[in-house]
Amino acid sequence: MKFFVDTADVKDIRECQEMGLVDGVTTNPTLIAKSGRKITEVIKEICSFVEGPVSAEVAALDYDGMMREGDVLRKIAKNVAVKVPLTVDGLRACRKLSSEGTMVNVTLCFSAAQALLAAKAGATFISPFIGRLDDINLPGMELIANIRQIYDNYDYQTNILAASIRSVNHITEAAIIGADYATAPPAVLKGLVKHPLTDKGIESFLADWKKTGQTI
Ligand code: E4P
Repeated sequence: MKFFVDTADVKDIRECQEMGLVDGVTTNPTLIAKSGRKITEVIKEICSFVEGPVSAEVAALDYDGMMREGDVLRKIAKNVAVKVPLTVDGLRACRKLSSEGTMVNVTLCFSAAQALLAAKAGATFISPFIGRLDDINLPGMELIANIRQIYDNYDYQTNILAASIRSVNHITEAAIIGADYATAPPAVLKGLVKHPLTDKGIESFLADWKKTGQTI
């Protein structure tokens, strides 16, 4: 499974990168707003040190507007994936951008039917939002499983990018199901390393080691 870090904070991305956790980056309008920076500047900076796909989302809702904004975004760097919402106009823009060789991340996916349409429109990534489904008591992980099944049934090449991830368990479960990618906030990615028995084990090994009086 490949990991994208879900943030527009350059310092956080660099930290995760040092831990080998960054196969790419996803951003969205909320994350750009949080960064307090201009979208073109921050995406350009991220692309200068991240080799993998960097998702940058259009804000327009109509096809022409999406294409205009998508053009600005894809010109920033070769590894920009233009992110479009799962709407009729978003799917039209996806088809066009994909046919022109631009990576497209179709976002805000909440049903398997929507994911099927994104694959048919040639999306590079489909982003099913697990956490936001769980938030309204709908089974987010079931959506990942259903999309996996559909894409495998018809050999669609669109990558399943598990998104809106809130916990380490979300990542583990999505990986077991076979999601190709997961995008998660830096804190969740860093949380993957943690286990209380690892800490406990280190503590007891160190205590015993001290008793030997040895150094290496
Ligand atoms: C994905 O690309 C989105 O930016 C992100 O996963 C949304 O997560 P949220 O539901 O925690 O805002």
